[in-house]
Order: sequence, then structure tokens, then C-alpha cells
Amino acid sequence: MSDAFAVVPAPLVVQPLPLQPFVITRSTIVVVDADDDLMPIAVLTADLLGRVTGRAVEIRYAELDAAGVVRMRLVEDLPPGPETYRVVVGAGRVRLEARTTEGLVHAVVTLRQLVRERPDGGVEIDAVRIEDSPRYPWRGLSVDVARHFVSVPDLKVVIGLMGHYKLNVLHLHLTDDQAWRLDLPSRPELVRRSSAHSVDGDPGGHYSAADWDEILAYARARAIRVVPEIDVPGHVNAALHAYRELNPDGEPAAEYLGIDVGFSRLSDDLPATHEFLADVFGDLADMTPGGYLHIGGDEVLTMGHEEYERLVRAASAAVTAHGKRVVAWQEVASVPDLPEGTVVQYWDTRVDPAPFVAAARDGAQILLSPGSRVYLDMKYTPDFPLGLQWAGCVDLRDAYDWEPADLVAGLPPEAVIGVEAALWTETLRTLEDLTTMLLPRLAAVAEVAWSAPGRRDYDDFAARLRRHGRHWDRMGLVWHRSAQGTWDD
Ligand code: ACM
Repeated sequence: MSDAFAVVPAPLVVQPLPLQPFVITRSTIVVVDADDDLMPIAVLTADLLGRVTGRAVEIRYAELDAAGVVRMRLVEDLPPGPETYRVVVGAGRVRLEARTTEGLVHAVVTLRQLVRERPDGGVEIDAVRIEDSPRYPWRGLSVDVARHFVSVPDLKVVIGLMGHYKLNVLHLHLTDDQAWRLDLPSRPELVRRSSAHSVDGDPGGHYSAADWDEILAYARARAIRVVPEIDVPGHVNAALHAYRELNPDGEPAAEYLGIDVGFSRLSDDLPATHEFLADVFGDLADMTPGGYLHIGGDEVLTMGHEEYERLVRAASAAVTAHGKRVVAWQEVASVPDLPEGTVVQYWDTRVDPAPFVAAARDGAQILLSPGSRVYLDMKYTPDFPLGLQWAGCVDLRDAYDWEPADLVAGLPPEAVIGVEAALWTETLRTLEDLTTMLLPRLAAVAEVAWSAPGRRDYDDFAARLRRHGRHWDRMGLVWHRSAQGTWDD
């Protein structure tokens, strides 16, 4: 694919058309059929095109097919799949078509990536026909807002980047040893006592119910679902600090602002533990429209297996009682009879995957987050100032050059629901730190998750990504010019 169609992730079909480019002018308008569902996306389109072109773009509700018009429609004559979309540029018109509003959001994002600035300052889009749909339905990014708090404005920047690369699941790691970041009505002491700080005593914060609604709405407008995580039965020191009755000795745990893992735990034999699980997952279910809640389950190093099983079952039951499905880290694969439809998230490439493969054969759905490929808190290179290195260094090519179906020997390929990058924030304090770790690697993970295997080629990807580097610069984003990429000087 030439630089002219530098779309990332690579679409299924890109067919250049022998027609004049579409020129965006003062009189370009966006028209949408008069359908309430399409209103938010028309606003998003006008906003994105307006930002690219530096002018306000007008929207009209009309069934208008005329020169200078960007027309968005829901249609049925597309290949199957809820996210399938089509973009046709040429003959003085642009058509954006999809079966669903999510598909239309993808069409808009593709259109935005196609816009080119001419030497004379004008903006145009080369004539092309694109038909596209994703390989996997779950294309995620997990963000740890517990170790370092991420404010709502900063989180919106991250969500915007996710949308730009057609990622559709924002997994928020809301609780850990260091802090609890979401205010829950049944448990006000969690954020009151356990959200003021971040790792090393850095400033903290939390999301109010209103903040939460704002995050959900901002994500939804970009076709992104939110999957919140409350991590149990380990990684719970913030809860043990806020509620003394969760501790066997009845004394509140001390605040912890280091970066060790595995030391804190709930206790199955305390009635308060079970009330706590019912309360927090009940509140979370009420506050979250999406179908999944994440219960954590990772790195519980101070508990026997039977107690671990009982607590994972209790947390899972609290989730399914509210009609939600369970997501959990790979350690839960050792628990028999997980609820139907449970998503098990693979992360630790250092351990024997046999229990994990067995869970998949038993019907669990598998989400792939291999640390050595998609943990975007790993350093790019050994001397990189930010990040950790326990899973090795992850440079641009490492994040790109792997095949989900071949990652874990014995895993049935049809069990894989998708791919999710993760950004843990032990060493990441600012938005600039976050974007430095995300860019350019997030684009690589997005292409692994979206693009058909036959459409993936590292050199072609790196060539397309060059234009994206220019875009990040224009947006004022701080990013890492990986030596494995090809960038402008
Ligand atoms: C994890 O990285 N502890 C899931």
C-alpha cells in the first residue's frame, strides 16, 4: 500500500480509483439521514474533519447526494459483521457506509487518516474504495489508573488515540494496593481514604460518578466500550486500608505507595469480605452499561489454592448476579467451572500455559495480552528512561511481528476473542509519559488485532506509519521515534 493510503490498521480491501481527488473546501458539508442514532457521529465527523481542515464543517440532515458532500448512511448491502464499513471517495463525493454506528465511526476514522495536505495548504483525499472489517471483536487497551492516577482530560486523549486506531475496549484497572480510583455509592470510604496518592507519594485522585459517566460517554461516541476492573482477591491493600473489617486483626492496613506485588489479600473466612464483594461489584454493574466486569485474580502469592478458588467464585458470582460476564487474568484458569462466557486474559509469558489452554478447551474465551509483545509499559530498549523490563524490551517490531493464533501452543484459535495492550503506570506519571509509551506501539498492536493476517507486513506498516508520526506531531503529542520505524527528520 502506498503512503497515499496510509491507513492503520491496514484495511481488508483498498482499491485506488482512477478519479480526481475529493477536495475539502469551505462548502464541504456532511449529510446524514435524519436518524437520532446518527447525530453523535455526525458531530464527531464534523469535529474530526474540522480539526484536520482548520475550518468548521457544516452538518445537514438530508438525503442528499451532490458534489462536495460527505454522506453517512446505515446500509445493509455490506459483508457480514457488526463493524464492517465502506468508504468510497471520488466523483466529487465521499460515501461512508456501515451496518451500525460503530462501523460508521470506523469509516470516519479511516476518512480522517486519508486526508492529505497539499503543498498549497489545501486538503484533499485521493479517490479510493475501502471495504473493511476487523479480525477480532475485542481490540483493547488496559490502563492502570491506580498506580498513577490518570485525570479525565488525560484519559480522553488516550481514548481519542484508541479510536484513531479502531480499538474498541478500554479496560480500566481501577484498584490496586496503592489506591482505589472509582467512587462507589455503597463504599464511600474507598476513595475518601485510599485515593489521595499515587506511587512514590505522587498526587492521586479519583473518578466521581459524574466523571465516570463522562468517560463512558466519550468512549461510546468513539465506538469504545469500557470494561472496569476491581482487582481481587489480591492487589487489595487500598481496600484493606479503607475498611478495617476486611483485615483479620480488625486493624486497617497501612497505606502502600511502593511497587511490590502479591502481598495483600482478602480473607474468605471474614463475613465482611463477602459483603464487600457483593457491594463493590453490584455498584460497578449498576454504573457500567457494558456486558463485562473484570475481577482481576492475578498475582495472589500469599494464599492457598482452595481459598483462592472460593474467593474467585465469590467475585464471579457477584458479577454474574447482575447479568454481566466475568473477565479475569490468566491465573483464574486454575479454577474449575468458571461461569459460561468468562474471558480469561493471558499476560504472563514466563509460566506454563497448560491450565490456560485447558480452560480454553473447556469453553473459556481467551484475550491475548502477552507481556513480551503488548505490555506497553515495557521499555523500548534497555536504556529507555521510562518503563519496566520484567517481560523484556518491547520495541515497535516486537509489538507488531507476532501471530495471535500461534502464540500459545495448543490454544484453539477459535477461542481467541481478541488482543489487548496494557499500560501499567508504576513509572508513568504524566500524559507525556503515557503517550511516549503508547506511540508508536499502540498502532502496531491495533493492526495485529484488526487486520487480516494476509494484510500484515512490517515494512509496509512502518512505511504507512511515517505519516502518522506527522499527525502526532501536529496534534502536539509526545511520542518515541523508535529506531525500528521510518520517520521524517
Ligand atoms: C498483571 O500484569 N499482573 C496482570
